[in-house]
Amino acid sequence: MKNTKNSQPINIFNQVDLFYKISGKGRLLILLHGFGLNLTIWEKTCSHLPAGIQCIMPDLRGHGKSLVPPGIYSMDDMAADVLGMMDSLKIEKATIAGHSMGGYIALAFAQRYPDRLVGLGLITTNARPDPPEKRDGRIMEMHRVRLKGSSVLADSLAPRLTKSADLENSVRSIINATNPQGIVGASLGMAERLDRMDVLRRLNCPVLVVAGSEDLITPLAVCEEMALNAPNGKLVIIKGAGHLPMLEEPKILATEFSKMILSAHF
Ligand code: MLT
Repeated sequence: MKNTKNSQPINIFNQVDLFYKISGKGRLLILLHGFGLNLTIWEKTCSHLPAGIQCIMPDLRGHGKSLVPPGIYSMDDMAADVLGMMDSLKIEKATIAGHSMGGYIALAFAQRYPDRLVGLGLITTNARPDPPEKRDGRIMEMHRVRLKGSSVLADSLAPRLTKSADLENSVRSIINATNPQGIVGASLGMAERLDRMDVLRRLNCPVLVVAGSEDLITPLAVCEEMALNAPNGKLVIIKGAGHLPMLEEPKILATEFSKMILSAHF
């Protein structure tokens, strides 16, 4: 990855220590990964961004090299971690893009700290909460993760993320390496997340919604609804991509990010 500084941990007052990586220089793009994954999923996309954009990629709490606290990680807590990271780095405002769970966190951030946002990227994510059967399924699956470890999630999630066998293998090893306590904390936090479709209706910054035509997890209809509800929303459907456009189509995603960021007014 070009212009990559060494990864470094950051100590966030009153919040959780997050490990992060920075790439490039210029307008700020904070990238939040999805459930069970880590910051490395963004590296390909960042390498395709033009000059003039700086990516900041944290490992979210419970994931990657960041701290793994006990308990349930609400999307609000995880958004507060991101705010703490911005404060520590003296970042007043940035564009924030989140993938799936990272998108739930970005929406919580947009609700709580709209003044700190320049633009919002929602990548294969969902502003609606879990339906009851999905919530119950998560709780049952997390019992199994507690008993048997992270491979339970790797086996159920990795095959649904992408059609590419290579990518499936690489995300499977990331999930297997994620601490089971982090997986349980994040899953139970997602299970209790709120409906945030209204947040989009009130948001005036540019909102980029990215969907994969082959995504088995995020319904296309919800992506269409999110883009329609945001006054300044744009929907991009990436043909052939599943739930992981940042790995399946990194060039297309980088182009869409740069269009949103370089056209935004400060
Ligand atoms: C993700 O990719 O972050 C998950 O599929 C989100 C979820 O389980 O709702």
